[in-house]
Amino acid sequence: MKLKRLLAILLMISISVTAGAQKFEDLAQTPPMGWNSWNTFETDIDEQLVRNIADKFVELGLKDAGYEYIVLDDGWMSRERDSNGNLVADPKKFPNGMKALVDYVHSQGLKFGLYNCAGGNTCAGYPGSRGHQYQDARLYASWGVDFLKYDWCDTGNLNARESYVTMRDALYEAGKPVLFSICEWGTYQPWEWAGDVGHMWRITGDIINCWDCEVGHGSWASFGIWKVIELRNKEKIRQAAGPGHWNDYDMMEVGNGMTDAEDRSHFAMWNILNSPLMMGNDLREVSKETLKTLTNKEVIAVNKDPLAIPAFRFNNENNVEIWAKPLKNEKWAITFVNRNDTPVDIDFDWRRHQLSDDLSQRSLQVENTTYQLRDLFKHEEVGDTSKNLQTSIGVHDVLMLKLTPKS
Ligand code: GLA
Repeated sequence: MKLKRLLAILLMISISVTAGAQKFEDLAQTPPMGWNSWNTFETDIDEQLVRNIADKFVELGLKDAGYEYIVLDDGWMSRERDSNGNLVADPKKFPNGMKALVDYVHSQGLKFGLYNCAGGNTCAGYPGSRGHQYQDARLYASWGVDFLKYDWCDTGNLNARESYVTMRDALYEAGKPVLFSICEWGTYQPWEWAGDVGHMWRITGDIINCWDCEVGHGSWASFGIWKVIELRNKEKIRQAAGPGHWNDYDMMEVGNGMTDAEDRSHFAMWNILNSPLMMGNDLREVSKETLKTLTNKEVIAVNKDPLAIPAFRFNNENNVEIWAKPLKNEKWAITFVNRNDTPVDIDFDWRRHQLSDDLSQRSLQVENTTYQLRDLFKHEEVGDTSKNLQTSIGVHDVLMLKLTPKS
């Protein structure tokens, strides 16, 4: 009898431990959209900036387009924890404290995110969460934080999966739903283990605002748009993406100094790859063209398509990248990106290209179906697949099409 009771108790304990070990399930059903401070402001952030950004979300139609999270990256805290070991929002940068700021962002119908790190220190040298995970999670919950980006600096010999599981469990235990954004740069193949740990995971080191460069910083490098796209393309990352768990190609550099054409291509690729869409530019001074790109609802609809299958590289002919993504109802999205430094003429015979996807077992049936073509940047119909696609694409620009079977 005693043994039975003991077994029952052990069973209950193991059930409750397993039940505790999970992430918040119904978040990020489509790739998260928002803004993050790092790409433009690094640690030079403060309360007024966040308030302005929140106002701009509403004023510029970004909220309407689906952008939701405002995330403060590294540099929001004081250099030291307080005497109870709690993190402190830097009182100079955030004179009214973090809770008041979170409340303001919420009052605009938006969500609020913060950054910390699995190591002893963050990448910019502020106090990390190592040894304080549960305490920090409770603090974020008391402020009403909705999103945590969790970095990987100063982690020594820590095991990545275990560290992220610990923080996931701490957030879950604190009880306030938090979207958990894993940032270990793809070092330990998070696409293999992070599906039930976080809602998105970075797949590369830091992005930088250039088309195809790589900039070394001693022990690490930052990557231009095409370096980010290509770095993990040969690994099995596509199958890891889906509702609630996404490959994160990093915060966007749209509006940060590349040409408008390059920004369009960058945006098209992040959408067709099902990446989270975190803006990284200064929304207080945004050009018309940048805004047009960032709020292109037809392109964003591709990112949010319910099938949730990321694009694959179909072809690179004459340095024109062709990426294809199956969409719901036998539709497709296709990008043609001109990586040449001169404009390029396209003469694409649909019937001579067998476009099929092993992963989703779908193929474009141009032999027996004609597809209507819609240009998602020009917002107009541009013919169908019964004829060759004949057009030209400017330097580093993109043609993004949606293909719909004609009935
Ligand atoms: C790392 C991350 C960046 C940013 C900085 C902050 O480099 O990858 O995205 O969060 O740290 O210090």
